[in-house]
Amino acid sequence: MDRHPDTALVQGGRPEGPGAMLNTPIVLNSTYRVGGDLSYGRSGNETWEAFESVMGELEGGSAVAFASGIAAATAVLDLVPIGGTIVAPVSLYMGLWSQLKERAKDGRANVHFVDQTDVDAVLTAAQGADLVWLETPSNPLMQICDIAAIAEGLGDSTLLAVDGTFTTPLLQQPLALGADLVVHSATKLIGGHADLLMGVVIGSDELAEKLRDKRYAHGATPGSLEAFLALRGLRTLAVRLERAQANAQAIAEFLAESNHVTYVLYPGLSWHKGHALAATQMRGFGTMLSFELAAGHETAERLCNATQVFANATSLGGVESLMEVRGNRESERAMGTPHALIRVSAGIEHCDDLIADLTQALAIAHQG
Ligand SMILES: Cc1ncc(COP(=O)(O)O)c(C=O)c1O
Repeated sequence: MDRHPDTALVQGGRPEGPGAMLNTPIVLNSTYRVGGDLSYGRSGNETWEAFESVMGELEGGSAVAFASGIAAATAVLDLVPIGGTIVAPVSLYMGLWSQLKERAKDGRANVHFVDQTDVDAVLTAAQGADLVWLETPSNPLMQICDIAAIAEGLGDSTLLAVDGTFTTPLLQQPLALGADLVVHSATKLIGGHADLLMGVVIGSDELAEKLRDKRYAHGATPGSLEAFLALRGLRTLAVRLERAQANAQAIAEFLAESNHVTYVLYPGLSWHKGHALAATQMRGFGTMLSFELAAGHETAERLCNATQVFANATSLGGVESLMEVRGNRESERAMGTPHALIRVSAGIEHCDDLIADLTQALAIAHQG
């Protein structure tokens, strides 16, 4: 029986049969007696497999869990042969940008950074490329790119990978849109409670096998406790996402109305450049937004320090609302992120408290 993703989240990855435990336990084990499917702790683990089975069902592929989102992304980049070509967005998660720069500098890959919102530019750069990497919505500029159009235009020998961290499989399904691989930092919305680091890649059985080999060989294996927590986080993803997304929309609309704010980047705003595409490609506009204050960087810092509900902290996707001056980092500015850009991760607190907090913090920030 086909089940709704919201049901798969709750029901998937559980032991079955009479007398079975309802939850797959935290399996602490490094080796197995000869004769079964698993031989050593780096080749697999029952707790990871429970998490992977749910992620695979949600994305429509075979899932491989990793120690972190960046470990998952690294395994995908490692599918590119030495000297191969990678096409990536000009602006994306800065950790990946740094790694791509490093790969190019070390002569391990030719990396072309392109405007991912321009389908023709991506396809031109992708001629003869081994891998095209997309991130939509992008971190932190909230760019939306057309996964299906890019997938359709790519040659068979070019892999298309999409970082779906900001959307989770509930809001966007890159494999169904023609991508070969979807990568998530499970540290964020999937885990959902800012208490673990984990990543996951989903693709065909063949690609998943290659990625499992990379995981085994390079050792970027998740912890069993983390896999248990990520699976527990997944159980409530649908309801967390619904609340956090409504909060993000309300925050974006509130900020857009403020005289202190020059612009808000959130695909749920009708005037956002990617709004129409997001409305067809995504099932909701997500929990992340960015904005700038007219008064500039110092005021942005004061705002982030004046909030009482939002924590001034990096990361995203947890139940707790966070905000930070994203442009403080040199690598962000090198990608074109404005110095004073503030990135917001909407949590699941009551919306009235979030708006009241922003109201008082904006007043304090503009006093001094
Ligand atoms: C879009 C995106 N992808 C990947 C990552 C890396 O994930 P992790 O911190 O779990 O390694 C992050 C981290 O912030 C991210 O925002």
